Amino acid sequence: MCGITGYIGYREAYPIIINGLRRLEYRGYDSAGIMLYNGNDIQFSKTKGKVSNLEKKVESEISEEGNIGIGHTRWATHGIPNDVNSHPHFSQSGNLVIVHNGIIENYNSIKQELISRGYTFKSDTDTEVLINLIEEIKKKEGVKLGKAVQIALNQVVGAYAIAVFDKSKPDEIVVARLGSPIAIGVGKDFEEFFIASDASPFIEYTKNAIYLEDEEMAIIKRGRKAQIRKISDDSSVDVDTQELQLNLEQIEKGGYEHFMLKEIHEQPRAITDTFRGRLLPEEGIIKISGLENNMKKFLNADRIIIVACGTSWHAGLVAEYTIEEFARIPVEVEYASEFRYRNPVITEKDIVIAISQSGETADTLAAIKLAKSKGAFVFGVCNVVGSSIARENDSGVYTHAGPEIGVASTKAFTTQITVLSLIALRLARAKGTLSSDMYRMYLQEMELIPQKVESLLKIDSHVKEIAKKYLLSTNCLYLGRGYNFPVALEGALKLKEISYIHAEGYPAAEMKHGPIALIDDRMPVIVIATNKGHYDKVVSNIQEIKSRSGKIIAIVTEGDKTVKEIADHVIEVPETEEPFTPLLTTIPLQLLSYYIAVMRGCNVDQPRNLAKSVTVE
Ligand code: F6R
Repeated sequence: MCGITGYIGYREAYPIIINGLRRLEYRGYDSAGIMLYNGNDIQFSKTKGKVSNLEKKVESEISEEGNIGIGHTRWATHGIPNDVNSHPHFSQSGNLVIVHNGIIENYNSIKQELISRGYTFKSDTDTEVLINLIEEIKKKEGVKLGKAVQIALNQVVGAYAIAVFDKSKPDEIVVARLGSPIAIGVGKDFEEFFIASDASPFIEYTKNAIYLEDEEMAIIKRGRKAQIRKISDDSSVDVDTQELQLNLEQIEKGGYEHFMLKEIHEQPRAITDTFRGRLLPEEGIIKISGLENNMKKFLNADRIIIVACGTSWHAGLVAEYTIEEFARIPVEVEYASEFRYRNPVITEKDIVIAISQSGETADTLAAIKLAKSKGAFVFGVCNVVGSSIARENDSGVYTHAGPEIGVASTKAFTTQITVLSLIALRLARAKGTLSSDMYRMYLQEMELIPQKVESLLKIDSHVKEIAKKYLLSTNCLYLGRGYNFPVALEGALKLKEISYIHAEGYPAAEMKHGPIALIDDRMPVIVIATNKGHYDKVVSNIQEIKSRSGKIIAIVTEGDKTVKEIADHVIEVPETEEPFTPLLTTIPLQLLSYYIAVMRGCNVDQPRNLAKSVTVE
């Protein structure tokens, strides 16, 4: 969703802001804009479309000078994506400038009030309403920018991260957050500050960052420490500067054509990083500190409720199978967006596991808050360190997948499954529901997964050949059973989100209850048919598809003979224990979607309409 960058200091602001906006492109957006202050004038440029369009427009419209500026990538909520609705937005006087992520829910009533006081509006956005409210308060109350922002934010309902500039105080920028992240990069001796939705835009300039908490604002002025205040009562808050672990290499493409392909190929490393220090097969133990410290709560839990969205929800479905199988604790998996609004029954004996790559998903965050308010213990599985969800949980684990920039989730999914499988095994050991021999066997097998993924990635060119044959398909069906049913859902999601081909995932046995009607010689059906679990039943399903002339792409275990004779194409994956098969079967599905999307000319890393962190509900 929207991205913010800003700079105040001694360097030229333009290249820092424009590069920052490029780094935030992964969040998903439809327009971009920038404001620069050169010591005398405010200059701005904004446009529908990509950051590259903005660069061209800047060249012909404004000079690129100035040591202060703010930039924005907009993901439309109020008003269509066009030049006028793009950020930054200006107050009526033209002196105040704002960029904003999030939604001001009561913008309409504030707008009507401002109209009655003579304000006019150029755009359809809630953001323009907010900047005019700040201007009105500044004038009426005779206060400075920081105070006016604080008063205004107490009048709005909604979610925001904002950066505000005032031409009459051109040595400072005011930022604030509620529900949308904002990070402040702190330069040497406070001689410069960077503002961004995450730390990636300023990683080459400073390793020191302040992450604002919800309901906090900061007044950033060159030459002095950032002042942080509580929005509710203007009280001052101690500044907590953190050292960033991120490096530039991690957020660049490293020779791959797309971030998505890079991230698919990073999975052996990412899975290893997920279990590093946690999986110790030699000693026959799994050690996850967030779990060890709360083991009693897990062992006494009546049930586990998993809340998540999208791909993370699919990882939750796999965890339902592993936790129930290994640890015999009942598990329910819920879409966070449904859970938060349906008055669910939650008790103090429930454990809620919230899964989120970004750690910023608004619905998942709201579900956590609801569960906590009812007394449940909330355990998070997050990738982004220090994210809102990671901070909101009672305890949790990081997946350590590294930054995921491609909008379509890949390594986040496999690392979520990895860590959740470790949790399931550790709980099983603590509960005594798995014998020590079986436990050790699973630990040893888990350790082999990264090298199996590595060898599996060599099928790249084979998958590409299959992709060529199906790139003009308009529909696709994905089938799997047991542990691989969620993989079928994930495969279908991956295809539809990056190639725009309609795809559905189903439990294979459900096919005969409806989707079978769709099958003809133009319908590719991707069937996960690994040799464990319900293999024979899946083979029967494949026969049913074959007899209706469907085209079968089967994911099978190495050496499979039966399916090879029936399917149109087979993709082999190495043998592993059944609960770990999703870590392998997912890989060819990611590659298949990737190559089909590339061949269709789609923007793989930034698919239309999608955002990387979904900070609105
Ligand atoms: C799909 C995808 C989304 C996310 C979903 C939840 O490829 O990336 O479905 O999984 O928006 O996001 P997180 O995990 O950040 O909470």
